[in-house]
Amino acid sequence: MKQQAMEGTQGQRGVAGPSSSKAIPSVAAIIMAAGVGKRMRSKLAKVLHPIAGRPMILFAIELAERVAGKGTTVVVGHQGEQVKALVQAQCAAREGRSAIRLVDQGQPLGTGHAVLQATRGVSPTSRDAASAYLILNGDTPLLSEATVRELWRLHEAQQATITLLTAMLDDPTGYGRVVRSDTPGLNGGARPNAVVSRIVEDRDADEREREIREVNVGTYLIDARFLVEALDKIQPRNVQKEYYLTDLVGMAVERGLRVSALTLHDFREGLGINSRQQLATAEQVVRQQIATRWLAEGVTMRDPATTWIDADVTIGSDSVLYPHVTLEGKTQIGEDCVIRSHVRLTDCWLGNRVLVQDCCVARESRLEEDATIGPFTHLRPGAVVRRRAKVGNFVEMKQADLGEGSKANHLTYLGNAKIGKKVNIGAGTVTCNYDGVRKYETVIEDEAFLGSNTLLVAPVTVGRGSLVAAGSTVTQDVPEDALAIARASQLNRPGWAAKRRALPAPGEVKAPETLKGTKADKSGSRAKRKGMATKRKR
Ligand code: UD1
Ligand code: MG
Repeated sequence: MKQQAMEGTQGQRGVAGPSSSKAIPSVAAIIMAAGVGKRMRSKLAKVLHPIAGRPMILFAIELAERVAGKGTTVVVGHQGEQVKALVQAQCAAREGRSAIRLVDQGQPLGTGHAVLQATRGVSPTSRDAASAYLILNGDTPLLSEATVRELWRLHEAQQATITLLTAMLDDPTGYGRVVRSDTPGLNGGARPNAVVSRIVEDRDADEREREIREVNVGTYLIDARFLVEALDKIQPRNVQKEYYLTDLVGMAVERGLRVSALTLHDFREGLGINSRQQLATAEQVVRQQIATRWLAEGVTMRDPATTWIDADVTIGSDSVLYPHVTLEGKTQIGEDCVIRSHVRLTDCWLGNRVLVQDCCVARESRLEEDATIGPFTHLRPGAVVRRRAKVGNFVEMKQADLGEGSKANHLTYLGNAKIGKKVNIGAGTVTCNYDGVRKYETVIEDEAFLGSNTLLVAPVTVGRGSLVAAGSTVTQDVPEDALAIARASQLNRPGWAAKRRALPAPGEVKAPETLKGTKADKSGSRAKRKGMATKRKR
């Protein structure tokens, strides 16, 4: 839905923080997630496309779980195994909630066919049965819990058989249109007094019906007995030869049963994702909701428009985010942290008062209280920076634990390493952790001091309090408190450099005074220079 800009769409759902309301005891939810999503032109099933880092289907699942006390069924089909795996992982991650039921639709033959699979074998008269079903499209991620609860209140108050959610759009293209009893006034605003008579799909609508601006959002509350009985009677008599769930509306009206409708206050909540354009719009809305939430929770953002925070990220109060910060996955940031510009943190954990300087990339890493990284630090999975430790520019860490108060400030690679407290890692230190076949561990004990340009050929241990001289290639364990020097010893040749300077330049004929006793012709001088250069290389 791409009309007027609207503010304040923050609902009470995942991205907007927890809701305190209880689930409705008599309602069960069905989420339709089996469709192919052809209009996305994607290899990935539509409901698996992420919005703010979270697969689209999880928005509907989370909402259903909060509202429906009688449990949730997800209908899967296209790429069903991937959708199932995602739902199961979601179930495993949250405790104390009943399992989500998964039903296979097989070939997706339409929304009516999808819901039919979910209600097969359900007896609406049994003692424990739900009295109503909340049916959700899996491709409508912006829907808020508050709206669904309002829909329920209306359903109850009107004792309706079906209560559906509608939206008024300037451009209703693609959506099913809500035909009301006063249909001649097609172009009017919402007509609360005119009762709903049926829904006509975009592709089946005639010219007059296409002009209707009131659309079906794809969110319904339906009386359980009516649903179970009527689903069987849907026929695929339409352009797409599909079983339309929306036909139930006309069927109920024909039987004289009450159909109610709630029109969205904010049309954006009803956005159905059928195309990449709609996906991009949804992403924008969700990101804005997320930023609004964290600003309200006491987080400073220098530029909310360029700060990208995924739906499952958490941030402590008084933390400051600079422009162009991306926080992904399940990243957790403590209080009073500062994240400077051009930083991407994915699935990281940050304690309080952590400083992340500009241009850092970190994934699956842990930064404890008062740690500092950057600028230009790269932390790969398994990096741990303990309290008050510092990691500086052009340092890469992977499966490496840098102890409390330790420092690795410049140009370093630490991989498969366990580093103790108050260790100094000199500039240019490299743990040589890979021999081409296997990875090996380096251990550096507390208070060790590694000079610049140290190579540590793993497996190797540098003992507590020891000192490794700059430029060393350490291949053996260094005992506690020892000095290790592992480099070629230095040779000084007095006067050598001065003599070299005094050699004739190429093309100079006369032998200089300083080279007495040498053959001062051109070729001789050249040969001599060459010899010195060779020695110098060594
Ligand atoms: C549907 C509604 C339309 C409404 C729109 C709102 C029908 C017939 N039409 O149209 O009135 O305006 O949503 O966004 O219901 N699905 C299945 N199995 C299937 C087909 C679809 O599980 O066999 C799932 C899809 O994965 C999707 C949802 O149902 O999550 C809706 O399907 P979609 O094809 O997007 O329907 P629309 O054409 O958008
Ligand atoms: Mg759709």
